[in-house]
Amino acid sequence: MTTPHKATMSFSDGTPSVDFPVYKGTIGPDVVDIRKLYGASGKFTFDPGFLSTAACESKITYIDGDVGELLYRGYPIEQIAVNCDYLESCYLLLNGDLPNPSQKKDFEHRVTMHTMVHEQMSRFFQGFRRDAHPMAILVGCVGALSAFYHDSLDIQNPEHRFISAIRLVAKMPTLVAMAYKYSAGQPFMYPKNDLSYSANFMRMMFGTPCEEYKPNEVLVRALDRILILHADHEQNASTSTVRLAGSSGANPFACIAAGIATLWGPAHGGANEACLQMLDGIQARGGVAKIGEFVAQVKDKNSSVKLMGFGHRVYKNYDPRAKLMRETCYEVLAELGLENDPSFALAMALEKIALEDDYFVQRKLYPNVDFYSGIVQKALGIPTSMFTCIFALARTVGWIAQWNEMISEPDQKIGRPRQLFSGPVRRDVKPIGNR
Ligand code: CMC
Repeated sequence: MTTPHKATMSFSDGTPSVDFPVYKGTIGPDVVDIRKLYGASGKFTFDPGFLSTAACESKITYIDGDVGELLYRGYPIEQIAVNCDYLESCYLLLNGDLPNPSQKKDFEHRVTMHTMVHEQMSRFFQGFRRDAHPMAILVGCVGALSAFYHDSLDIQNPEHRFISAIRLVAKMPTLVAMAYKYSAGQPFMYPKNDLSYSANFMRMMFGTPCEEYKPNEVLVRALDRILILHADHEQNASTSTVRLAGSSGANPFACIAAGIATLWGPAHGGANEACLQMLDGIQARGGVAKIGEFVAQVKDKNSSVKLMGFGHRVYKNYDPRAKLMRETCYEVLAELGLENDPSFALAMALEKIALEDDYFVQRKLYPNVDFYSGIVQKALGIPTSMFTCIFALARTVGWIAQWNEMISEPDQKIGRPRQLFSGPVRRDVKPIGNR
């Protein structure tokens, strides 16, 4: 919505000043529409890392990083986490509002009917080394889904986009569990349709054909909460990647594979794995007694050591997801009789010290969701190398909702950032003997 205000950019080099419209969202900062800047002045804006740039308009997820608020379609994450399950959250993100009971039943049915992957997919797994990182397998296998589902690849057709969304949400747990089973050398488990989304995933991960798997309700709820908390997070690096890939008209499976690749990095989805490795490292060096030494290293500008699970580009307050994950952490450890788990005790001690230390306080570095999600996943029996896969499984719905929103825009354009070129100016190639 255009506000009565405008922004004027003036230049000291004689270029005439340019006026820009200012738009107001429903919440959040106003934005200055600088699209005509280049045409009017011959200049670009420069904003590597998108520190001040809104790359799209969206109605899906809103974060207020200063107060530590996260809303999915307007609903606070704290309310969704205690009142809804993951599939309801998926419905909300994809459709704009929470389902009523019959919509919920229908959605669950549709997802359940798509949980199997094409049988040929299992052969792909055989081509990977058993010790391959499961994220490497997942990037490949999700991209490969586009080779199987030609019947839903017309991205201009809303019905096709919907089927692809359902397929992705439904098949991700199956593929993630297959990646795990392959690394463990165990047979793949087919999905079981009478289980909930999260219970089915746990069975495909931890069950074997040798005996009946009985899901533990507390642990299933914990996993479901991990999925809810990671389902979407506005225009982060992987979501922006999915949008950029999708802006070229690439199919949704290829776009989600691109998102998974971006998520893998330790500054993004790889942080929960890195966080647990950090805790294990401190534990190995002496545990709580060594925290001071470790924190000193983190603060040393000459070291590249970071306190993993701390800090966020947007949250300059306690990440609301971290609070919920901390609660789940207590529940899971109590259920499993692991209240004295050394990683958890270490994490609590580290959090306390960091929250009081000037370095972290001044920079507004608070625990993020990954600080606790690794401990919960470890307690659930999920190996560290699988943590980012679980994140990818959860985030797939957010990626696909954002992709769908972008494709549905009538004036959608291919994403094409500009650059400040600082390389050599035009020069001539010398014959090889003269170089
Ligand atoms: N440990 C130590 N110092 C830190 C940390 C940290 N985890 N995070 C930021 N800083 C310092 C940083 O060195 C800088 O200091 P200075 O002003 O003296 O140069 C200051 O805090 C500002 O940091 P920044 O690098 O400008 O912040 P950013 O917004 O670019 O980076 C971040 C955000 C998440 C990449 C970063 O905080 C980080 O690397 N954290 C650890 C990794 C992590 O936990 N990532 C998970 C994010 S949550 C999951 C998700 O949404 O993907």
